[in-house]
Amino acid sequence: MAYDFHSIIERRNGSSLKWDQMLAYSSDLPSDIIPLSVADMELKNAPQIMEGLREFLDHEKIILGYAGPPASYMEAVIGFLATRHAWNIERDWIVNTAGVVPAFWHAVQAFSNPGEGVIMMSPVYHPFFFAAEQFDRHVVNCPLIDNNGRYEINWALFEELASDPSNTTFLFCNPHNPVGRVWTEQELRQLGDICLANNVLVLSDEIHFDMILPGHRHIVYSSLGKAYARRSITFSSPSKTFNLAGLKTSYAIVPDEELRKKYTRYLRQISASSPTILGFKACEIAYTECLDWLDQVIELIDENRRFVEDFCREQLPAISPYPMEGTYLQWLDCRSLQMDDEELKDLFWGHAHFFATPGRTFGEGGEGFFRVNLACPTSYLSRALNRLKKVIHCLPL
Ligand SMILES: Cc1ncc(COP(=O)(O)O)c(C=O)c1O
Repeated sequence: MAYDFHSIIERRNGSSLKWDQMLAYSSDLPSDIIPLSVADMELKNAPQIMEGLREFLDHEKIILGYAGPPASYMEAVIGFLATRHAWNIERDWIVNTAGVVPAFWHAVQAFSNPGEGVIMMSPVYHPFFFAAEQFDRHVVNCPLIDNNGRYEINWALFEELASDPSNTTFLFCNPHNPVGRVWTEQELRQLGDICLANNVLVLSDEIHFDMILPGHRHIVYSSLGKAYARRSITFSSPSKTFNLAGLKTSYAIVPDEELRKKYTRYLRQISASSPTILGFKACEIAYTECLDWLDQVIELIDENRRFVEDFCREQLPAISPYPMEGTYLQWLDCRSLQMDDEELKDLFWGHAHFFATPGRTFGEGGEGFFRVNLACPTSYLSRALNRLKKVIHCLPL
């Protein structure tokens, strides 16, 4: 089946956080302006999910009460991880959570003490910082090294930070938002060996693990082997992949029984939310019936990536898109414009109505960059880039 990834969907009054944030900045924008920021898609959900949910709601035995995970949902998660990620898990390892961000925030609380350090690698998805800072832990940053547009790990620094006994957890982003790296097996093993040698717990956020561009392969950190699995928790969900973030359905996979007990005890203590009945159903349908939809979305992201690269090379050389291996977020180097971050934001948002996310949101190393969401019809990107080109070409030299 071919899916419609080209229709324009007006979400101005549709309870979209991403749109509301843009409209809060400027409420009288022309109707063809869309946000290119928060990681949700300007694409219709897979029809199988919408029709499946409708059918589910029409079923006379459905009551929207408190939900437990149906067996069919658990089987769908196990099956999807096995077939799509070559990762065989046991049913008991699954801890259902209402969002990946709350799940890793809770894990930081459960497995570290106030005053301890949480290692992370900036520029990185900004709630990683809050997971440490808001709960009296420290952000222990190991900034990525920009090696001519390809980000690499600062191994010497990572080893030094991991060997400090007060740094007890590593919040890992694989694939890495915002720089788009899909970490290789060799990198994963090296990170894992350092963490194992220093007893650092790996909290691996793999929410973008399905969005892998041709030529790259995602490896689930925990799947490297038993030793790595025992000292890690993997967080993921169908929410990025199938655009279901509003349904708050995610899971943590915790192979080690002691870690699992500790984690679930903490979730009970704070009365953490669990997913909803519709979220379980949507995830089950996504993981069992929507794989061809996913394959076609990946093709679209790859086309959009190429479109942006070609456009910038041919018409907007002041902007350099960095090579993208995974996620649907493209990292644009705008440093040749020689503007500070306020000036850049004013240029992009205020003048060009190019509502991508300023790179400094993602911490040290993000200055001078923008992160662009490519999960939208190509025509949107074309219009947005043309507006940006017009504004940049009018700049005094
Ligand atoms: C790396 C990463 N983790 C987590 C999330 C959000 O997860 P959730 O909406 O399930 O809390 C995002 C959203 O962009 C993300 O990029």
